[in-house]
Amino acid sequence: MTTIARNQWYVAAYSRDIGRELFSRTICEEPILFWRRKSGHISAMSDRCVHRRYPLSAAPSRLEGDTVVCGYHGFTYGSDGSCVSVPGQARIPRTARLSTYQVYEQDSFVWVWIADSNYPTVGDPTRIPRAPWMASPDYTVVSGMEPIACNYRLLVDNLMDLSHETYLHGGYIGTPEVAETPITTEVDEDRNVIYVSRHMDDAECPPFYSKSTGIETRISRWQDIEYTPPCLYLLHSRIAPLGAPLPEADGSDVHAFHSEIVYAITPETESSTHDFWAVARDFAVGDDDVTAYLAESNRTVVMQDVVALDILQQALNTEKTGYQELSINIDAGGLGARRLLQKLVDASRLGTEVSV
Ligand code: FES
Ligand SMILES: [Fe+2]
Repeated sequence: MTTIARNQWYVAAYSRDIGRELFSRTICEEPILFWRRKSGHISAMSDRCVHRRYPLSAAPSRLEGDTVVCGYHGFTYGSDGSCVSVPGQARIPRTARLSTYQVYEQDSFVWVWIADSNYPTVGDPTRIPRAPWMASPDYTVVSGMEPIACNYRLLVDNLMDLSHETYLHGGYIGTPEVAETPITTEVDEDRNVIYVSRHMDDAECPPFYSKSTGIETRISRWQDIEYTPPCLYLLHSRIAPLGAPLPEADGSDVHAFHSEIVYAITPETESSTHDFWAVARDFAVGDDDVTAYLAESNRTVVMQDVVALDILQQALNTEKTGYQELSINIDAGGLGARRLLQKLVDASRLGTEVSV
């Protein structure tokens, strides 16, 4: 039984990843070939030649102008996936066509619409959730992508419950207050968003923030999660020296340091996940030393999760039949996320798109 919701937009890559080279990535079990046309637009099509299924991303396949030439026997495809030439004959079989994918570039991401092959649908780009900080001149961004050998739902669980920072990420972003402070959770079924908030009024400043902001005192630390299943996860992080004024009614908040932590959670297969991560900050903008520190430090934190989730998935794989879990208050966000994800999976099986 699939766990992957279809008729959904997923992040396939960063815009910077796709150029005039053939780029392959498996998204939701579908091997997809991405490349940028001379016009600058991205084409996305099946990464399997219709002839003998040779991967079109594999050498010596190549891009020739705006066509893709299969490196095995030379079937050649246009940017719309249609075959424009085959070797040894003039007649091109009518069915010689690659399936193509809708692509939309926004906020430095390349989003791809993964339709349900039984009930194909067209994606509406206006419904892609936004992460505007990723491409804003007012923010400096560090980002990357790590593969994880786990079902994507384990990463959702991980990100929805940040109390694990205290244990898994101690010495980086975790301090005792994260695990000690209760959360508030809201599941907005109509808008398909889950909110989890944890506001720590008097907390230790972890190295991740003390080194990047220069704060040496205790802090107030707010973590406000906003997850739009299945793919986009935002963590609005606000750090301010203890005693600094709260944000103004108009939203201005000059005494605080803001980081917008963005994850795109994209299933590669049922048992592997693309973990896109980014930290966009509104302080030390353009400061290369801070950028280098946060890039290194955040990647370390991400890798701590990757290692833990690889281990967890392996352990779960050894369970003979289903397994019991025990949920507590900190799991409210994760449980809400599971419920909304299941709704999306069920909807894609029925061939309907859940409207939000
Ligand atoms: S497999 Fe591509 S041309 Fe034969
Ligand atoms: Fe983590």
